Amino acid sequence: MPDLYNAIFRRKSIRQYNMTPLDTLQDIQDFIDALTPMFPDIQVHFEYAVRQDIMNLLPVAAPHYLVAFSEKKDGYLLNMGFMMQQIDLYLSSRGLGSCWLGVALPHSEFRHRTQLSYVIMLAFGRPQSLSHRQDVQEFKRKTPEEIASSPTPWLEAVRLAPSATNRQPWYFIGDESHFHAYCLQHHLINALIYGRLHQIDMGIALCHLWLAVMHDGGRVEFNNMAGRPEPPKGYTYAISGIIRQNDSIELG
Ligand SMILES: Cc1cc2nc3c(=O)[nH]c(=O)nc-3n(C[C@H](O)[C@H](O)[C@H](O)COP(=O)(O)O)c2cc1C
Repeated sequence: MPDLYNAIFRRKSIRQYNMTPLDTLQDIQDFIDALTPMFPDIQVHFEYAVRQDIMNLLPVAAPHYLVAFSEKKDGYLLNMGFMMQQIDLYLSSRGLGSCWLGVALPHSEFRHRTQLSYVIMLAFGRPQSLSHRQDVQEFKRKTPEEIASSPTPWLEAVRLAPSATNRQPWYFIGDESHFHAYCLQHHLINALIYGRLHQIDMGIALCHLWLAVMHDGGRVEFNNMAGRPEPPKGYTYAISGIIRQNDSIELG
C-alpha cells in the first residue's frame, strides 16, 4: 500500500521532466483502478495523453498527461480534486513528479473520446531534479489561523495541500469529531477563472484531511450537515463531514 499520508509533507509541483516515457504506467493504472471517490455515484474516466494531444498556454512539457473526465453532477469538481490528489501523492510517493494543469485543454478529438466532460489534467513523469521537499518550511502556505477557526489534528495536512495559483481558498470550522468546509467566494471575472478551480482545490484539501484522519485511525463521512455555522465573510459553504474513530460504537 503506497504511503500517501507521508507524501503530503514532502510533495511539490514538478515542471521539468526527463522526457523518456515511463515503463510503469501499468502500476499507475492499477492504482487508478483502486482510487477512492468522495461521491461513488459520479462516473469518472481517466485517459493518458502525450504533448501533441493537448493545448497548454503555460507549457509544462512532460512525457505523460493524465486527463480526467467526469459526469457533471453536484459535487463533481470536489470529487475530481479528491480523486486526482490521491494520484498526485501516489506519484510523489514513487519518486515521480506531477503538476496539476488548470489552464491546459486536450484537443477536441481527444476530448471526444468519451461522453463525459473534460475536467482537469495532471502532467507527470520522472523529474529532472529532486522530486521532494526536504522540509515542511519549504512549503509557501497560509498560517493555521488563516484557514481554520481552531487547531485540529488534521489541520497541518490540509494546510499543505496544493491549489491553483497557490490561493488556498479553504476555511475550516471543526474539531476532532466533525468539520464544515468553506470556499473563497469570487466575483465577476474571478468567478469565471477561479470558480471551477477552487472547487477542485477544495477536493484536494479534503483528500488531505481524509488521509490524515485515516492515518490517526479514523474515517470521514462527507455530508451536507444541517445547522452548520454561517460562512465566514467572503466564503461560501462547500461541504461538511463527520469524523468517526474506527473503534467507536455505532448507535441506532
Ligand atoms: C487545480 C490546480 C491547477 C493548477 N494549475 C497549474 C497550471 O496550470 N500550471 C502550473 O504550472 N501549475 C499549476 N498548479 C500548481 C500550483 O501552482 C501549485 O500547486 C501551487 O503553487 C503550490 O505549489 P506546490 O504544488 O509546489 O506545493 C495547479 C494546481 C492546482 C491544484
